[in-house]
Amino acid sequence: METKLPASKDLFLIRESLNSTDQDQNKSEIENPKSKITMLDLSVNVHKLMLKNPVMSASGTFGYGIEFDDFIDVNRLGGILTKACTSKNRDGNRYPRMAETPAGMLNSVGLQNKGVEYFINTIYPKIEHYDTHIIVNVSDSTVEGYMEVAEKLNSLEKVNGIELNISCPNVKEGGMAFGTSCPMAGAVTKAVRGVYSKTMIVKLSPNVTNIAEIAKAVEDEGADSVSVINTLLGMAIDAEKRRPILSTITGGLSGPAIKPIALRMVWQVSKAVKIPVIGLGGISNATDAIEFLLAGATAIQVGTANFIDPQVCIKILDGIEEYCNRHGVKDIKELIGALN
Ligand SMILES: Cc1cc2nc3c(=O)[nH]c(=O)nc-3n(C[C@H](O)[C@H](O)[C@H](O)COP(=O)(O)O)c2cc1C
Repeated sequence: METKLPASKDLFLIRESLNSTDQDQNKSEIENPKSKITMLDLSVNVHKLMLKNPVMSASGTFGYGIEFDDFIDVNRLGGILTKACTSKNRDGNRYPRMAETPAGMLNSVGLQNKGVEYFINTIYPKIEHYDTHIIVNVSDSTVEGYMEVAEKLNSLEKVNGIELNISCPNVKEGGMAFGTSCPMAGAVTKAVRGVYSKTMIVKLSPNVTNIAEIAKAVEDEGADSVSVINTLLGMAIDAEKRRPILSTITGGLSGPAIKPIALRMVWQVSKAVKIPVIGLGGISNATDAIEFLLAGATAIQVGTANFIDPQVCIKILDGIEEYCNRHGVKDIKELIGALN
């Protein structure tokens, strides 16, 4: 069978044999009765979404899930965040639109996708069988565009949530502009709330002075949850050519480099709002994930780490379970915001 790699295949460093994953996973569960007798409850609630565990994939780093079918059992995840979906086809930005940095990467993909109609007619039939939550990341350049996408997705039976991306730093119009002012963040949230009845998560930009204020603004206008954070605006320069590396000059920084900032923001936002916070930014292993839960996140997303190890989400899930068993935690919810 042909092995499909996710979009950023040049960043893939597949270090381990891919033949040992799912089958061995199942085998070890059968042969190791310990995993069957533990009464650990990993489920968490993000508004009306009951996730079987708090581990989800982050938008733009996991395709539509199907790209990872050959590497992991996608059904084990708490949820999948699809890549951005806009009202019309978008080609994205010119190449080069990726740059590696010492502890992360810069990207300026620019919301490349074929539009909401294509998603509904071509992608959705391929992913609706998943036994996990499918949450579609919604983006656009105008409030009307966001509304159009959300309204069309509202009727899809297996899509029980959307994530409003008001934080993309890589598009000329819309994107981050919506997420960096309280009135604009509130306005787009309110407009989409008017046409979308299921769980609406709003993804916040870290490129602001006070992220807690933006979180409160979207909570006041009907957001059911916030995800914190999108990428941080950064830049890379080729000194030999004396030119910026990215065609867009600036791009979004992700990966381990941003983890301390993301943790701080999750902590600040979780203190400011009552709705559940989903934490992400530089999560690469189970310890990182636990730190986000302790900072106040109800669930987490894994992004850039998927490019380094396509099995990382499952390893994080197993590692969380191991942490809970080691610390006598019976219910993962005990850890949320449980800093001493
Ligand atoms: C290549 C790439 C594409 C991305 N595309 C999207 C996107 O379409 N929508 C979105 O909301 N976030 C997008 N993001 C941001 C991630 O979902 C995530 O918020 C960010 O990378 C921080 O998490 P991480 O450090 O775990 O990657 C993208 C990130 C990367 C690296």
